[in-house]
Amino acid sequence: MSHRICRLPGDGIGHDVMKAAMIVMDKIPLDIQWVDADAGWCMWEKFGNTVPEVTWKALESTECCLFGAITSKPGIKGFQSAILQIRQKFDLYINLRPFKSYPGVPLNYRDNIDMVLFRENSEDLYSGVEFYPTPVEFFNMHPKMERFRGKDVAISCRVITREGCRHICEAAFKYAVEKGRKRMTCVHKANVIRLSDGIFLEEFRRVAEKYPQIETTEENVDAVAMWFIKKPEFYDVIVTTNMFGDILSDEAAQLVGSLGFAASANIGDNYALFEPSHGSAPKYAGQFKVNPTAMLFSARMMLEWLGEKEWAERLETAIAKVLLEGKVRTYDVGGTNTTLEVAEEVARNL
Ligand code: NAI
Ligand code: MG
Repeated sequence: MSHRICRLPGDGIGHDVMKAAMIVMDKIPLDIQWVDADAGWCMWEKFGNTVPEVTWKALESTECCLFGAITSKPGIKGFQSAILQIRQKFDLYINLRPFKSYPGVPLNYRDNIDMVLFRENSEDLYSGVEFYPTPVEFFNMHPKMERFRGKDVAISCRVITREGCRHICEAAFKYAVEKGRKRMTCVHKANVIRLSDGIFLEEFRRVAEKYPQIETTEENVDAVAMWFIKKPEFYDVIVTTNMFGDILSDEAAQLVGSLGFAASANIGDNYALFEPSHGSAPKYAGQFKVNPTAMLFSARMMLEWLGEKEWAERLETAIAKVLLEGKVRTYDVGGTNTTLEVAEEVARNL
């Protein structure tokens, strides 16, 4: 079957790891038509728009996107992150991140970690509903606002919908059953954020009832941050809201070797985007020094999503073999090899 995929390197090391991904993808004899596009800081500098119209067209004309990384800078008027815009426009409400300690990776915190995190990807504090200065209506709307009256106040809204909660919980349970996973942990802070995490918890319980074969636990996010250090092997599948998932997934990445190993998929009902969890690491841009493993695992997830199960498995096996042998390694894992040499070694093992 043929595929049409948008290739979007972004900024900084996004280009380095995209080049690595192409070394591997070129070895796979699938009929893939790549559609090149740009987004991120590079486009903001040129057009004052992180996702210009041509990029939307390129994305819309494809089945999915392989994405490098982008640079976002705070405090710039009118600036909107490219990745957030793409996630919202295509309603990519699932952010799926696997964390597995592959044998041979010297940075593994423990050798038996194998968890998958489902992060709601379009709501919460990332909805972009913010106020500054805060309109006076706000101070009149809620008695708890009284003590802030007369102060210089900024407000960011944690927007949570029941539908969003249900969708991410359903996706997580469906995945757990498909992959033969046993335990689902719902991560929340409903004791403090009573209403928005309240409906998240309600929807979690409602969906869980349909999957009696999956054992469930409910834990506070702060406790989970602690348990990741104490007993990470306990976790199997985790489902949580956007910001908690963002923070916990960086912590989990560190448990299995660093951001250089953490792949991610942004999935909606009609489109998907695959990207390493790391950012554009500007200080390493163009040096071909960084670890391409996260990007290669993202390409693996993309192949699976496209229904190319055989090649997804072969890529997984090839990456795992290169990690186990440890002969070809980038600086972060104590090696001296380049980004592209690691990719070439994986391609050789395909
Ligand atoms: P970053 O992930 O770009 O880099 C942090 C540090 O992690 C790097 O200095 C490097 O030491 C290490 N690192 C990252 N990727 C690595 C790799 N593949 N191999 C080895 N080491 C690696 O995060 P930072 O510095 O906070 O942000 C830089 C820019 O990236 C910012 O503009 C930020 O907004 C953006 N960003 C973009 C993301 C995306 O494209 N989805 C996600 C996170 C940050
Ligand atoms: Mg993050």
